[in-house]
Amino acid sequence: STAVADTRRLAPDADGIAAAAALLRAGRLVAFPTETVYGLGGDATDPAAVAAIYAAKARPQFNPLIAHVPDREAAGRQGVFSEDARRLADAFWPGPLTLVLPAASSITVCDLARAGLGSVALRVPGSDLARDLLHAFGRPLAGPSANRSGRVSPTAAAHVLEDLAGRIAAVLDGGETVVGVESTVVACLDGRVRLLRPGGITRADLAAVLGHAPEAPDMAAAEAPVGPGMLSSHYAPNARVRLDADRILPGEAALLFGPIPPVGVETASASLNLSPAGDVVEAAARLFGALRRLDATGAPTIAVAPIPGEGLGEAIRDRLVRAAAPR
Ligand code: TXA
Ligand code: MG
Repeated sequence: STAVADTRRLAPDADGIAAAAALLRAGRLVAFPTETVYGLGGDATDPAAVAAIYAAKARPQFNPLIAHVPDREAAGRQGVFSEDARRLADAFWPGPLTLVLPAASSITVCDLARAGLGSVALRVPGSDLARDLLHAFGRPLAGPSANRSGRVSPTAAAHVLEDLAGRIAAVLDGGETVVGVESTVVACLDGRVRLLRPGGITRADLAAVLGHAPEAPDMAAAEAPVGPGMLSSHYAPNARVRLDADRILPGEAALLFGPIPPVGVETASASLNLSPAGDVVEAAARLFGALRRLDATGAPTIAVAPIPGEGLGEAIRDRLVRAAAPR
């Protein structure tokens, strides 16, 4: 492995996985790839490791974190599955779905990782490398996105190092993530199914399995999410973000979508197309990397062309609205 300011870059092989698992067992933090984004991994059963995650991210509050587990059996030791939860897990695990479930009596995920809630957020990631790491580690792995609080989520090991070099022990380098936006978060509590965060599994995918659309989150409820995905200004580049731009102004950086560029695109200081073919799946995979690259040009504003809200477009638009929120 090579080191960047004392953060080791571990190769995605048996030695790298063993080294990552050993660091995690010692209470250290290791960023790891999933199919969505890189997670900032720490032992979810160890409050000291979880506290170190919040410190490394410079997160303003103790928000509840996702506990990553290798399979359904491990998830069943942490959370109580309703019939709907069972159906969703059968349909979408391993994959980009997080289920918020009542805590099981045998739960080992610590209170701090759950922000003191009686529920737990569980996910079996779709990445083979992530599941190999989870098997080797043998405990639930807390893993918020591996970026500094308020910054764009990382979809490559280099993004993790930009934000966290010197603040974490290692990053397991699995190359670029394939989905590119975070998991869909669904709460199955009190006999209800609520969509808390749009993500890699679409609303239509959920409805097809449930036989009905999921409900909207109940913001007044005690278990209402207070996580970073719910803060209005999140996923924030340094540049201002201007949405649904049908015209690019001189000097703006342009984030494009589809075959037809907006008027004035030739006056942009830089431009990237998320998907020239107009494919929202491809666009999701490229979203955070493109935001980082345009932001790195130093342009004062990133103008974003209109992106349709269907399918993964809902999660893309959700992240862009947050990136554009006043701060
Ligand atoms: O794709 C992903 O989900 C990535 C990768 C690394 O797995 N992880 C991720 O974690 O995005 P994080 O911590 O950034 O997002 C956790 C989300 C937040 O929106 C949080 O509010 C919600 O899950 N959450 C966690 N526990 C919860 C709970 N008990 N009740 C309600 N919401 C919860
Ligand atoms: Mg995040």
